[in-house]
Amino acid sequence: MPITKAVVPVAGLGTRLLPATKSQPKEMLPVGRKPVVQYVVEEIEDAGLRSVLFITGRSKTAIEDHFDRDVELRRSLTTNGKHDLLDALAYEDANVEFFYTRQSEQLGLGHAVALGESYTEGQPFVIALGDSIIESQGTPSVLRRLIDAFEATGATAAIAFEEVPEDHVHRYGIAAPADGALPGVGDDVFRVADLIEKPSQAEAPSRLAISGRYVVSSAIFDALRKTGKGKGGEIQLTDAFRILLAEGHPIVGMRFRPGEKRHDIGNYGSYFRTFLHFALQDPDCGDGLRAAIREELGL
Ligand code: UTP
Repeated sequence: MPITKAVVPVAGLGTRLLPATKSQPKEMLPVGRKPVVQYVVEEIEDAGLRSVLFITGRSKTAIEDHFDRDVELRRSLTTNGKHDLLDALAYEDANVEFFYTRQSEQLGLGHAVALGESYTEGQPFVIALGDSIIESQGTPSVLRRLIDAFEATGATAAIAFEEVPEDHVHRYGIAAPADGALPGVGDDVFRVADLIEKPSQAEAPSRLAISGRYVVSSAIFDALRKTGKGKGGEIQLTDAFRILLAEGHPIVGMRFRPGEKRHDIGNYGSYFRTFLHFALQDPDCGDGLRAAIREELGL
């Protein structure tokens, strides 16, 4: 049976982006012309999935409103002949069905994912973090290849990894790849021997950082039930993967290809950078922005 469902956790408090996130979700912050979570949904739809469960929280209703078809706005734009602006609402016609459930207490990413158990009905599914945009290079996309790797290897989970600079490994969950090639898949797919949460440079077994996209079988829910509070007193998804590994479940990793990138907007440094990256590609405003930046920098 093909994988059709994605769970998108968007319930985090986004405290690193205060005050911007006091009363609006960080996943709704604009990057160029679109909110972050719209990129995530477009990525999911492009990968062939047809159903999304958002794990939301208080002050996150803007996400539901964004994906709701706004008939009144459409009528007004049509009446006023603003067809170019109507095009900006084309995403409302996405071939994806949306579901929402609340994480009433922010007990961590693992806890948020656990709320997807009845929705996924025992079938494998995708987890896509709502605060990270994955930029693919051509097709098939990172997410599509990750799903293919999951299916081809029969693993319990497939995790996407981005190679990060050595002095950034302490910010991420890092893979310890197992020795030896996996049969029947490309060399960007490898067996994960272990996952080390935020290691020092000296401890890091690689520079391969967990990057916000996963495909998992329903075994993840049993593992999450066994997962105690970890870093920050939260139920960590990475800890659940470590339980699966300890129980002998095979987990595969997939490396990004050259030019592919995760844009995590969780802190101001990366949010500003991500905004700039996408705004510079804007067909109408990119060149003007480039000129303005040169002017700002006195170049
Ligand atoms: P983060 O780890 O960045 O946590 O979440 P956060 O709480 O949103 O941010 P800070 O640290 O307070 O600034 C990664 C993704 O997991 C979701 C977030 O919404 C984000 O998309 N998440 C995190 C949940 O859904 N629930 C949680 O309890 C924690």
